[in-house]
Amino acid sequence: MPAYAGDWNMSVLLIDGGRKLEGSVRVHGAKNSVLPILAATILNSGINIIENCPRLKDVESSVDILRHLGCSVERDGDTLIVDSSGMCRAYIPHNLMREMRSSVIFLGAIIARTGEAAMSHPGGCELGPRPIDLHIDAFKKLGVCVNMEEGGNIVCKAGRMVGREISLSIPSVGATENIMLLACACKGTTTISNAAREPEIEDLQNYLSELGVRVSGAGSSTVTIEGCAVFNDARHRVIGDRIVAATYLSAAAIVGGNIKVTDVDPNHLTKVLSILAEYGCDVETTKNSISLGRQSDLVAAKPIRTMPYPGFPTDAQAPIMAVATRAGGTTVFVENIFEVRYRHVSELVRMGADIRTEGRVAIVSGVPALYGASVRSTDLRGGASLIVAALGAIGSSEISGLEHVDRGYECIEDALGSLGASIKRVNNS
Ligand code: UD1
Repeated sequence: MPAYAGDWNMSVLLIDGGRKLEGSVRVHGAKNSVLPILAATILNSGINIIENCPRLKDVESSVDILRHLGCSVERDGDTLIVDSSGMCRAYIPHNLMREMRSSVIFLGAIIARTGEAAMSHPGGCELGPRPIDLHIDAFKKLGVCVNMEEGGNIVCKAGRMVGREISLSIPSVGATENIMLLACACKGTTTISNAAREPEIEDLQNYLSELGVRVSGAGSSTVTIEGCAVFNDARHRVIGDRIVAATYLSAAAIVGGNIKVTDVDPNHLTKVLSILAEYGCDVETTKNSISLGRQSDLVAAKPIRTMPYPGFPTDAQAPIMAVATRAGGTTVFVENIFEVRYRHVSELVRMGADIRTEGRVAIVSGVPALYGASVRSTDLRGGASLIVAALGAIGSSEISGLEHVDRGYECIEDALGSLGASIKRVNNS
């Protein structure tokens, strides 16, 4: 059994479209919660038991970094046990950084633990330039000396670290998390204003509370962290992945049927669920599940503008766009978070979709049918969009570029297959 599905190199997904989805599927733990929480495990120089950690490429990349730093990490099913007492390094080399841009989240935690840190600059990614200026500016304000060195390394050395008010010009998720982690080691109180409000920030707050840190406000725009001298061992269960849930629901919306996704908080998906309802789906929720059925034709929804939480999530834009391709009328998308987030469009068009893009705007006119094709994913959520489209298409599709999809979806073919989709992974080497 490979560590994650991506171990099958060069694999592709073969999908026969048009099969209605029925049944119930569990949503795995949230990738975007696991990553900062794994970074935070180095704070306590002790034992951390993190439950609901999916087998994803990005999670394995974080584990590789923890091991490189000297921590011991064991996996027992979906639980990761991290013993950070043996941490002996404060440098992350380029070969580990390039696996995952989000590894920049380790910077704050490493400085908090050791007083110094170095890593190669994460650079841009498939979504366009990914600056980290907000992280760096905040670190400097909190008393860290940050230098860019030859070869693209960021080198940080802690001076006298004192908590203070940090005001973010953009509610960046990564910057909010990195500042929270560093603030744990600052003397006194750090207050982050215009903080990101995503559910994953609240999950990090809950984990830090387990460690014994006095932290409050996550979920609002102001997060307050008191520096902490002694950390506890911690046990924490990661929240369900709202974007994975949105992807499964999009699949049921495009092809029809009745499904229930469990182990996810519907409050984390309010904007996505109201769009799916507008498209003509019947959506019902309980405390930790969402049911979706569709009996009638899809109809276009009002304009969809991606925004920081609680707005419509940029990560759900691509899977929902696949649904929009089949909705009668026109849906306008405005992507406000990332510069390059329409790379799935050209592939959807190859499947028969009618989409025009201009800058941040995409205009999707519903078509009577999509047709199976050989398409390639070039980023994580774009890949999910192609899978959703292929499930709703007439005929067979072959989807390559699964290394992107495997970063964020644990064995997506098993989850969708369990709902009745005709989907299988084959090795194409
Ligand atoms: C996180 C999520 C990603 C999601 C994104 C937005 C993780 C691991 N990834 O990414 O899935 O799509 O939030 O919800 O949690 N920015 C700056 N300077 C900075 C930092 C960010 O200008 O120092 C800009 C970015 O270029 C982008 C915007 O702020 O335009 C939002 O980025 P941010 O919230 O930081 O996203 P990530 O944390 O990288």
